[in-house]
This record gives sequence, structure tokens and C-alpha cells, in this order.
Amino acid sequence: MDVFECIRDRRTVREFKPDPVPEEIVDRLLQAARWAPSSSNSQPWHFVVVQERATIEQLGVIATQGPFLGEAPLAIAVVMSDATRPDLDGGRALQQMEIMAWSEGMGTCFIGFRDPNQQVQVKELLGVPQEMTLITVLPFGYRLNGPKGAGVARKPLSEIAHRGRFGVDYASS
Ligand SMILES: Cc1cc2nc3c(=O)[nH]c(=O)nc-3n(C[C@H](O)[C@H](O)[C@H](O)COP(=O)(O)O)c2cc1C
Repeated sequence: MDVFECIRDRRTVREFKPDPVPEEIVDRLLQAARWAPSSSNSQPWHFVVVQERATIEQLGVIATQGPFLGEAPLAIAVVMSDATRPDLDGGRALQQMEIMAWSEGMGTCFIGFRDPNQQVQVKELLGVPQEMTLITVLPFGYRLNGPKGAGVARKPLSEIAHRGRFGVDYASS
């Protein structure tokens, strides 16, 4: 799949087919994450692959901002150790998994675990040391809605792009 096409068509997916994700695809997701850039190439990430149904269902109960997590056949927790900028490094890695998943006919959704109690519960459930930073737990599965994502509006470039100086219309020259 063309890279730009994949980036443009990717949509957040909140409903999944129950089909299991083959091990070679799980491996590709992790490889995609592993090759992400990070600050000073510190690679401060860890990925906990969760395939056990009961554990995924418990994650869905904790994930009040994304209870559909409990329905996914696969979940991958992104946790960071000793990261100076955990959100940036973790975000780069998980975005690569999102794009990889889309190119394989799958989908995922970033789920926020903002409540500190949720963070504690997820770490307890997955055996992650409490001092580590939980970025998210991504649900993964094959998409129910065919090959293309539905359009979700984006701001036009005229609103967000500037040429030379902030405030100068990008399309002006
Ligand atoms: C930092 C971040 C937090 C998000 N948190 C949630 C969430 O808790 N629950 C949810 O259903 N979607 C969440 N999303 C998904 C966004 O709602 C979604 O990416 C956005 O509406 C754009 O849609 P698209 O990804 O289909 O283009 C989050 C996305 C990001 C980047």
C-alpha cells in the first residue's frame, strides 16, 4: 500500500472482527514500533502483547474511555522506562503500529487512561512496574468496515499552514 494513501485513509477503528491476529502480523506490528525514531535513539519503550481473552476483557472494564478494547482479539500496551519525553517517543512508536495495522486490513484506537487509578490498575493487571509510564493500551483487530476508512474531517491547509512567517497564507505565493 502506498504510504501517503495509508496515512490519509487510516481511521480510528473501534469495532473489530473476532478473528485472531496471526503471530506474524503481531510480530510486524512490534517490528514497526521497534523501528520508530526516539530521542538519542534511547528506545525507552516496552510493549506488552495481550491475547488472553479474560485479560483483554478486564482491560476493557478499566478503559472507561474505550470499553470496546474488551472486544478486540489483541491488545498491546505501550509502556516507557526512564524516558525524558515518554509521550513523544511512545507516540512515534504507536503511530507506526497504527499505520502498519491499517496496511494489513486491521485497525486500532488510541485509548486514554488519564485517571491515575486506571494507570495503576492496568499496570497491576499486566505486571508492569508502577514506576514505568503507561502511554496507552491499543486494541487491534481486523476491521469490520471494509478496506477504506470513513472520512473524518480535517482542517484545511489554509487554516494550519503558513508560508515563511506565521500568519502568511501558505497558498499565497
Ligand atoms: C492522544 C489521543 C487520545 C485519544 N483518546 C481516545 C479515547 O480515549 N477514546 C477514543 O475512543 N478515541 C480516542 N482517540 C481517537 C481520536 O478520537 C481520533 O483519532 C480522532 O477523532 C480522529 O479520527 P481518526 O483517527 O479516525 O482520523 C484519541 C486520539 C489521540 C491521538
